[in-house]
Amino acid sequence: MAEFTPRVFSGIQPSGGLTLGNYLGALKRFATMQDQGSWQTIFCMVDLHAITVWQDPATLARATRELCAGFIASGVDPEKSILFNQSQVVEHAQLAWIFNCVARMGWMQRMTQWKDKAGKNQQNASLGLFAYPALMAADILVYHATHVPVGEDQKQHLELTRDIAIKFNNDFGVDFFPETEPVIEGTATRVMSLRDGSKKMSKSDPSDQSRINLSDDADAIAQKLRKARTDPEPLPETVAGLEDRPEARNLVNIYAALADMTVAEVLAEHGGSQFSAFKPALADVAVDRLTPISTEMSRLMQDQAEIDRILARGAERAREIAAPILKKTYEIVGMVGA
Ligand code: TYM
Repeated sequence: MAEFTPRVFSGIQPSGGLTLGNYLGALKRFATMQDQGSWQTIFCMVDLHAITVWQDPATLARATRELCAGFIASGVDPEKSILFNQSQVVEHAQLAWIFNCVARMGWMQRMTQWKDKAGKNQQNASLGLFAYPALMAADILVYHATHVPVGEDQKQHLELTRDIAIKFNNDFGVDFFPETEPVIEGTATRVMSLRDGSKKMSKSDPSDQSRINLSDDADAIAQKLRKARTDPEPLPETVAGLEDRPEARNLVNIYAALADMTVAEVLAEHGGSQFSAFKPALADVAVDRLTPISTEMSRLMQDQAEIDRILARGAERAREIAAPILKKTYEIVGMVGA
């Protein structure tokens, strides 16, 4: 295997607002990786992915800028990291086409996200939704990214990214694309719905009570946590005691991730408590950590020209890395003039 420069890439769709799941499973960890690793960090608002399902144009533009504000408010520094929107770095779509020709229909058909999102009416889903994972592989591999921090739900797509890299390397007899490592770590890689501990917290859940949005104010956060579904038992003293208690486990995981504690540390403090005592403590931590982010997002959104400048500069920096990798890919494939 060739040696690859350590490089981190991840993306978030600008479709709807950000949830606590996006924050704990992605944004918060992006900021930590930016500050703690000896690697280049690259983060993207994946607007090309968002339009695989219908997006109203004005809403998409607003959501992209708001997401950029969300990245910055969560600690991603556009000087230290490269921060941009996908459509402005054309190499993503160009490499995705090559990967459409490497990946197999059967691989795409197995993707659980395709099955979930297309539902029963696959014939009516967009071709883009089906090919989505090939574009995601291009996002990552156009930078030769070695590490990709994501939540648990993206694991299958990252396995497919590796399959595409391996098949490309085999087909063309090269050692060109890295086998990227997923980074799925911490206590909040799968934040669950507040109404149903077996379902992922998601911006597309019809019930707003099921999630905390980064735009929620202190009262909404406290009210949603107070009403979160739980069981009648007090919190256990040990981590093992959370088994088979998905709602309790979810709230303890959220507390741990927000407060930068381990689950065992949370239980050492709160084991034996009733939810009537634990929920207000959790609400305090959540309000304390989340409201400064939403306040900062609103402040940043007042200067859209500045957001647009940050995105344009990020796209320029991203292209400096992506363009030579795409050019080399074209040469490998045999495209004259590359
Ligand atoms: P998206 O936009 O659905 O979600 C963005 C990130 O948030 C994580 N996440 C969660 N983590 C924990 N608990 C939850 N309930 C939760 N909900 C969402 C997701 O795992 C993700 O890390 N396909 C990707 C976007 C993408 C991408 C990429 C990611 C496109 N290209 C390249 C990494 C690398 C997506 O739809 O994420």
